Amino acid sequence: MQENFRQFLDRLRQTGELVDLHQPVDIRHIATLVDQAKTALFFHKVIGYDVPVVSGIIRSRERAMMGLGAETYREIEDRLSAAIAKPIPPKYVKTSPTREVVMTGDDVDLYKLPIPMSSIYDGGPMITAGVVIARDPELGINSGIYRFIVKEKNLTGIDIVTPNNMRLFAQRALERKEPLPISISIGTHPIEITGSGYRAPLGVDEMAIAGGLRGMPVELAPCSTIDIPYIADAEIVLEGEILPTGWTWPEGRFGEFTRLMGGLHWNPLVRIKAVSMRKDAIYYNLHMPWENTWLAAPTRYAAIRQALRTAGVQVKDINVTLGGCAFWHAVISIRKQPGEAKNALLAALSVMDLKHVVVVDDDIDVFDPMGVEWAIATRVQGDKDVMIISNARAKPLDPSLLQGAGIVPTGAKVGIDATIPDGIPKEHYERITYAYADTAKIDDYVNGKKDEAGKSADDAEVAALAKEILAAIEKAPLYYTDIAEKFSDYNFRTVARAIGHLHATEKLWQDPRGRMCVRGSQFAASPPKKA
Ligand SMILES: Cc1cc2nc3c(=O)[nH]c(=O)nc-3n(C[C@H](O)[C@H](O)[C@H](O)COP(=O)(O)O)c2cc1C
Repeated sequence: MQENFRQFLDRLRQTGELVDLHQPVDIRHIATLVDQAKTALFFHKVIGYDVPVVSGIIRSRERAMMGLGAETYREIEDRLSAAIAKPIPPKYVKTSPTREVVMTGDDVDLYKLPIPMSSIYDGGPMITAGVVIARDPELGINSGIYRFIVKEKNLTGIDIVTPNNMRLFAQRALERKEPLPISISIGTHPIEITGSGYRAPLGVDEMAIAGGLRGMPVELAPCSTIDIPYIADAEIVLEGEILPTGWTWPEGRFGEFTRLMGGLHWNPLVRIKAVSMRKDAIYYNLHMPWENTWLAAPTRYAAIRQALRTAGVQVKDINVTLGGCAFWHAVISIRKQPGEAKNALLAALSVMDLKHVVVVDDDIDVFDPMGVEWAIATRVQGDKDVMIISNARAKPLDPSLLQGAGIVPTGAKVGIDATIPDGIPKEHYERITYAYADTAKIDDYVNGKKDEAGKSADDAEVAALAKEILAAIEKAPLYYTDIAEKFSDYNFRTVARAIGHLHATEKLWQDPRGRMCVRGSQFAASPPKKA
């Protein structure tokens, strides 16, 4: 996919997924307007700024799919998995239109950029869509998206409280007492956002994963004040350094992917050394939380599926639920072999910071919450099927954990095996179904369909019919419904009287599955033995 950021905006516009607002708009109103809009919004005249703002471009499932060029939401995950398996390294180019305007030194002024506030208690204007690239002398290149709150015209914080690779890079630089140079590319295509939002293992270049998603290399160009590349297609690039201040500066609060206001974080500071941008640059404001959710969710799907594949589990479906913030909950259906549900739980719970996983059989639709709850209700014994692992790696943003300066909390992981327990007879799980479901259709009856009356019979004929029924069940046991159908020349009442006659004459019994059979025959169930 060759499409760049601007071409994606055009495609949204052409399909009615982006609305242009040409009138002056106060930047303080942007967050709520985007929240209320069904489309992405392009603010051409933001009062007090020369640069326009676009926001909400991947704020729905459909727009996330459009961003990745996918026909279905699941396809995003498949394409991401393929990209992880076959990354395409970036191509380095000498320069790009992003360098049409360059400000360095004292000319750096973040207040010239239309950086909106996001949620109500935010600690200031917040850069939400910056793809950050950094290099560690030993661990190589890393990219990710981390938010920055503007503190001074050339100073921000960087929100790296979560124990991720960028935090590790910053920690290692701090131990060396050195700043960590970073480029921050703002206004990049959803493919680059998705690639960088994937939490790749150390040493894996997320821009190569973005290349895998594109099917062609992502172009990177060199910054001017630091030896780090930026995304060549970006609208705006900040060149900066994470200062070796450690996690000592209060920052926030932040509106989080949890749909909650996060608390105050303790973060390092970032000095911005240069700002470069296109001469007609567009500022992309990623709107929290849904723009994050729709693009981050496929990364969880891909990671869970990969862990289950490694564990050799046959997966039917996965639902990383929206109720679980597309992050903490997964429901997984599997084609079960004995013990496999527990293996599936162990594998899935090892992924990222997933907290709660339910594994169900493949007859359960993981996207139907009632069906999943039904499986939990009917297939789980809490003492055998619930596993709790304490003190695992957790997301510090989990509001149910202790938070604060210097605290890197651990948390519990819970797995629920809601598959049919091994060794329980299948009959325990025969669902209620209705005879004649294929032939007796409600629409026909509403339109006046009539059934045939069927014969009735006097007592002598009932006794004769009973004999015929007896002959039938002597050969093989039959369900009551089968008898009623087999002798449907008679009306139901007559058949019921005939079966009643067999009962009264002590000919009738039932087999272990409840079918009618002849009393004392090889098929007949015997009563439970007295203890
Ligand atoms: C829109 C968006 C905003 C994000 N904001 C943050 C953030 O402020 N802090 C953070 O630690 N992670 C944030 N993330 C998650 C990281 O970008 C993601 O976990 C990434 O894979 C981390 O990569 P790393 O382990 O290579 O550092 C954000 C992700 C997205 C998609």
